[in-house]
Order: sequence, then structure tokens, then C-alpha cells
Amino acid sequence: MRSGSGSVHDIAIGSDHAGFWLKEIIREHLLKRGFSTLDMGTESADSVDYPDFAVKVCEAVLSGAARNGILLCGTGIGMSIMANRFKGIRAALCHDHFTALAAKRHNNANVLALGGRIIGPDLGKEIVDTWLEAPFEGGRHQRRVDKLDASQDKT
Ligand code: RB5
Repeated sequence: MRSGSGSVHDIAIGSDHAGFWLKEIIREHLLKRGFSTLDMGTESADSVDYPDFAVKVCEAVLSGAARNGILLCGTGIGMSIMANRFKGIRAALCHDHFTALAAKRHNNANVLALGGRIIGPDLGKEIVDTWLEAPFEGGRHQRRVDKLDASQDKT
């Protein structure tokens, strides 16, 4: 962890080896913007398994240690699949401005997944800023989000 513990952080962030480079850029960007981050790893470009880091970030969000989470792997796909297995996590895989906006406005996504092999640093920062700054619209979207959060495991 590169930030202090014991308090609620703005964002828990985690990646595998393929998202590591972008995690470092996004983390620095967030710190410059005044957000507190909880860095759950990985710490290098050495090969690791992305589900392990998705679990750490989702647990931080669900425990209240962090308000939101950001996950990065090569495509963002594996991270978003793992994250969405947690009840109460609404993870959105975003590759552009519009999906980042809708992820918050409509889905109130509490975890953002990004692909380090898909997007560049500037787009990554723009997606993060858009998602963080957009307001959740509530209303009919709240009803739908409530249904997401109330859904049981499908077998
Ligand atoms: C790692 O090679 C890659 O599979 C991973 O980063 C991610 O893209 C999985 O969804």
C-alpha cells in the first residue's frame, strides 16, 4: 500500500502485469488531482493472475476501505468479469468517453475496468476523470441499479 491505512480512501486501484504501466500513470494522475489511493498491486510487469487483484480491489470497496475501485489488465475484460461476481460491485469496462459517462450516469459503476493493451495514457486519464466527475442520474436508473444489486447468483 502506498497510502496510509485506517481511513477511507477515494480509490482502490489494482492491476495485473499487462495493466501495470497504466496503473502507475493513473495512480499518479489521481494523486496530483488530490484523490487518495489504495494501491493493491501488482508492483511490476512480472506475470501475475488478474483475478487476485480484482478480488483485493473489490474487497476494499465492499468493506468501505475505498469508495470506488479501478482495475487494469490487458483488455480490462478479465478484471471486469471477476469484479462483477461480487454482489454490490458494478464494474464497467470502458474504452471511451461515452461509456465512461454512461457508466456513472446510468449504472452508478463503483469499479472502472481499463485495458492497458487497448488505450493510451491520455485516454485512460480522460476516462477516469469522466467517470469520477459524472453524476449518477438516479430516478429510473436507481430502480435498475437496485435490481442489479438485489440479483441472486444465476446457476
Ligand atoms: C494477460 O496476458 C491478459 O490475459 C490479461 O491482462 C487480461 O487481458 C485478461 O482479461
